[in-house]
Amino acid sequence: LITPGGKFAVFAAIFSKISLGDRAVIPEPFWPIYDNCTRLAGGRVDFIHTRLEDNWRINMDKLEETLELSPKLLILCSPGNPTGKIIPEAEYREIARLAQKKGTYVLSDEVYAAYAWKTSTSILEITDTNYIYVNSFSKKFGMTGWRIGYAVSDVETISRMQKLVQISVTCVPAFIQRAALQALTMNQDVFDFFAQEMKERISLTSKELDKYPLSYTRPEGGMYLFPKGDQETFDSNRFVKHLLLKKNVSIAPGEAFGNYPQHFRISLGTNISELLEGIKRIGELMLQWQER
Ligand SMILES: Cc1ncc(COP(=O)(O)O)c(C=O)c1O
Repeated sequence: LITPGGKFAVFAAIFSKISLGDRAVIPEPFWPIYDNCTRLAGGRVDFIHTRLEDNWRINMDKLEETLELSPKLLILCSPGNPTGKIIPEAEYREIARLAQKKGTYVLSDEVYAAYAWKTSTSILEITDTNYIYVNSFSKKFGMTGWRIGYAVSDVETISRMQKLVQISVTCVPAFIQRAALQALTMNQDVFDFFAQEMKERISLTSKELDKYPLSYTRPEGGMYLFPKGDQETFDSNRFVKHLLLKKNVSIAPGEAFGNYPQHFRISLGTNISELLEGIKRIGELMLQWQER
């Protein structure tokens, strides 16, 4: 199913499975849209908290326990936004197996698959699972403003999702579909350039971040950094506001992605010189913050 952006594919996937009182399981930290959509559909969310200190690993006992509540959906995002974590293959397969055992669909958001610096398992490789796969032209092809994405699932699920597209936006405009087709038939080396560029941004910005009192895991993919202020009293909500007002730099507070009051997310969606300047300003404010 072709949708106006990957976001609409996620929206349609969630609305095709979640009705009043239905449950969805979402590992934390998460892209906020999963939680927003589930609640809008009248559903309930059970979060599985993961920690930087555990390298963002999903606790399988906790997952099994949560799956006992018979959720309709388990929502995965690998490579992840905001952590850049890639779920290792064995773990991914085990998660899919546990979900299948309980009759839970896996919604696998793989929009960052083209920005992966190690092997990233796709739900499409796991045949014995009920899944909805989501991808987008926004990241790999740099076509964010064109608004085109897609989903793959079984016929019944796709026909429910298709109804949602049909009664809301009708379809993705034909000229945008043609542009996406053109992107698919172009020499793919062009797009490897974007992935290489993102890898370079991660490497250079990480080196700059290492100078300051914060901890983070080096992203394995995606386009974000999700550091944690080392001071226990570090309040990222206040920090983010101050940073914008005093240093003209915009980052997202950790609490947008779950229970992460000490974290913040840096997007690497701009050029390297601006990113390095931005991180320098983040670091300066962190050092001043510590002295308070
Ligand atoms: C995790 C994740 N999924 C899906 C999307 C949707 O992207 P788009 O709607 O531009 O295809 C985004 C965009 O930032 C994202 O971060």
